[in-house]
Amino acid sequence: MAIPTPHLEMKSTEEVAKTVLMPGDPLRAKFIAETFLENPQQINQVRNVFGYTGTYKGRKISVIASGMGMPSIGIYSYELYQFYGVENIIRIGSCGSYAPEVKLYDVILADSAWSESSFAHTQTGYDKDTLDASPLVNERLATYAEELGIPLHRGAIHSADVFYRNDGFDFNTAYEEHGCLAVEMEAFALFSTAQVTGKQAACILTVSDNLITHEQTTSEERQSAFTNMMKIALEMAE
Ligand code: HPA
Repeated sequence: MAIPTPHLEMKSTEEVAKTVLMPGDPLRAKFIAETFLENPQQINQVRNVFGYTGTYKGRKISVIASGMGMPSIGIYSYELYQFYGVENIIRIGSCGSYAPEVKLYDVILADSAWSESSFAHTQTGYDKDTLDASPLVNERLATYAEELGIPLHRGAIHSADVFYRNDGFDFNTAYEEHGCLAVEMEAFALFSTAQVTGKQAACILTVSDNLITHEQTTSEERQSAFTNMMKIALEMAE
């Protein structure tokens, strides 16, 4: 396949940095580009999945939204890795906390994603339910967080296919049996896609709602208040 790909309109690999930050929400991509990047250029608007390239502290980086869910992030990450020369994708998303020690606005660095999803099995025949983030990228992210003085929780997360479940699922099972600190809906597919293309992926999450206490943030807060996680990921610029 040639570029542009079916879902992205950049005409040259030069338009995209080697490292892409990937929020789910296109407006969060816009916010990050406008708030943190020097000379941001919009590189994609197909389906309103906004993408930008600019520099951060003089180093090149791109921010491109993934949309919600594993099929969507699977499409964007595959096209970026396989056709646009992207090496690292850092998902920066929100999550619901399963763990009493993980509070609203806390930041999680995912070491692995556990999922009941068929995504990886369908993509590659993979027959297990856990996929790891790239350890070298995670070490870099953990170092940046420490330098910035931002505390991190590290551990497994749950990548779910269904937001509105009606099957009696008890999240304590995911917490107790699989060690999942929180739930989101994309990391497992991103990690599978990185693996099949031989590239690197990581996932940093900010807690937007707590499934134990039922505290929630507003969508405005979700868009703009997650700056700690963004600052950690932006240090990946090179
Ligand atoms: N479930 C799935 N994904 C999420 C949630 C949730 O409760 N909160 C933020 N992302």
